[in-house]
Amino acid sequence: MLSRRRLLHNSLYSAAGLTLSRGVPALAQAQMANPTPFRSGIRLAPYVDPLPVPPVLRGKPGETLDVEMRQFHQKVHRDLPPTTLWGYNGSWPGPTIEAQSDQPLSINWTSKLPTTHLLPIDHSIHGAGADLPSVRNVAHLHGACTLPDDDGYPDAWFTASGQHGSKFNPRPSAYPNCQPSTTLWYHDHCLGITRLNIYAGLSGFYLIRDEFEKSLNLPSGEYEIPLMLQDRLFHHDGSLYYPKVVNGPKEHPIWVQELYGDYNCVNGKVTPFLEVEPRKYRFRILNGANSRFYHLRLFTSDAKGKILNESFDVPAFNQIGTDGGLLPEPLELRYLLISPAERFDIVIDFSDYAGKSFSLINDAPAPYNMGGQFVPAEVMLFKVTKPLSGKDTSSLPDTLAPFEMLDPTHAVKDRQLLVSEIERPSDGYVITGLLGNARWHDPITEDPKAGTTEIWSFINTTADVHPLHVHLVQFQVLNRQPFNVQVYQQTGKLIFTGLPMAPESNERPARKDTIKSYPGYVTRIIQRFDLPHGTPTTPGQEFLYVWHCHILEHEDNEMMRPYKVIA
Ligand code: C2O
Ligand code: CU
Ligand code: CU
Repeated sequence: MLSRRRLLHNSLYSAAGLTLSRGVPALAQAQMANPTPFRSGIRLAPYVDPLPVPPVLRGKPGETLDVEMRQFHQKVHRDLPPTTLWGYNGSWPGPTIEAQSDQPLSINWTSKLPTTHLLPIDHSIHGAGADLPSVRNVAHLHGACTLPDDDGYPDAWFTASGQHGSKFNPRPSAYPNCQPSTTLWYHDHCLGITRLNIYAGLSGFYLIRDEFEKSLNLPSGEYEIPLMLQDRLFHHDGSLYYPKVVNGPKEHPIWVQELYGDYNCVNGKVTPFLEVEPRKYRFRILNGANSRFYHLRLFTSDAKGKILNESFDVPAFNQIGTDGGLLPEPLELRYLLISPAERFDIVIDFSDYAGKSFSLINDAPAPYNMGGQFVPAEVMLFKVTKPLSGKDTSSLPDTLAPFEMLDPTHAVKDRQLLVSEIERPSDGYVITGLLGNARWHDPITEDPKAGTTEIWSFINTTADVHPLHVHLVQFQVLNRQPFNVQVYQQTGKLIFTGLPMAPESNERPARKDTIKSYPGYVTRIIQRFDLPHGTPTTPGQEFLYVWHCHILEHEDNEMMRPYKVIA
């Protein structure tokens, strides 16, 4: 028998994961896949455009920044006409906003977007009715500790002309930044159309910095580069293509279960290249895709990006941080498995590789991890062709940030939360996803007390891995344990078929806000529900947040739940 560690490892990134043979009926697996792979039918040469780096917007402490959503045109590939997109301050990705720990910043989010949507809306989706303005937006800062009014609640949407949803907050959003240095991101969060708004371009990085991180002397300035990974489909004329389901369910005639593009974009460019110096670089990798998981490796390539199979000497990924901040120590990894919304902060040392090129290749099956959809392999190309501009004085320290483990014996609750899907009775086609066996508008069931610690156990009876995200908190992963899915579905009893397995090395110890919930496993996290430091509260006061699957097609179609923290 394989070691526990190995067992999980196998199921993590091999298409024929062990999890699938364990209790999920073969039929259910087949039915999950979208009927036909999405292809745009265009052919674009990889690695012909340089990687763009989004502009930086630095906030002074206490300042209010203006960020406006606009429609604009951007070249996404040398051989495509400009693409019509939506973006914060008119770029895709939007500006990288930089803040300092414990120094509040406010953002006045405004819109100049047109009144017609760029992409097809399925009005049968809850909260996306034809009676509502079709262009509605609200920005959310993912991974941030904020008050509900500033968190971008899905009903807090507004339009360019001043219409708004029930939870709209007319004031600029206040971000206290009361958390250690980390890589956050902001994106649209409007009820029922988040997938379309983000696909249109509404996403950007938000970095929190602090003195401690500075003292580590990590690569910085032009040697620190954010990489936003997103897959897209384009038409020949350069326009964005978001497919509609042919013969889709009557219930949701054009909703697609998951969106998979046939081109990977990094920072809004199709498979770009980056020329680097032979030295250390820090990359903040974000999976900003709607549905695609990335399983990334570097391959030695020629200058055009053709993989040279004779050399396997490639630099390692040194992971130094994740969703909520720095890890206790760097992890030397050969591959990275990144689900939608996760962030991997890494250092790559190109010192020994002057003159070489490395392609960044993805081979994660889509849907993850049973496949069925097209997987575009090329992500980007690193070319170590720039001369060293000066001695590399940056460091990759052996130890990074101290980490405080949450103690499971302090948890006041263990909530069992089902991750499931509803199938159309006639043929088993999945028409909706559910969390806790409830829909968005069902009464709130998760109501932790402020300052208390809880364990949440996600019981995944589907055939997919779902990246689950909880607003407000940075949580910790405890373990994953396999169970008999059929018995659970028939009787509601949890019969474990194995011991709890340790999380991956980069999942614990680590501050996480998004976690992969594996099919046939109970995935357990522990979290303390602290409101922003110094929030004045009255006993019984309620603070409303959400938790959801970060596959955007699922999030839009009921796989999202409100929850409240009670003071
Ligand atoms: Cu990335 Cu609820 O968000
Ligand atoms: Cu979030
Ligand atoms: Cu999901």
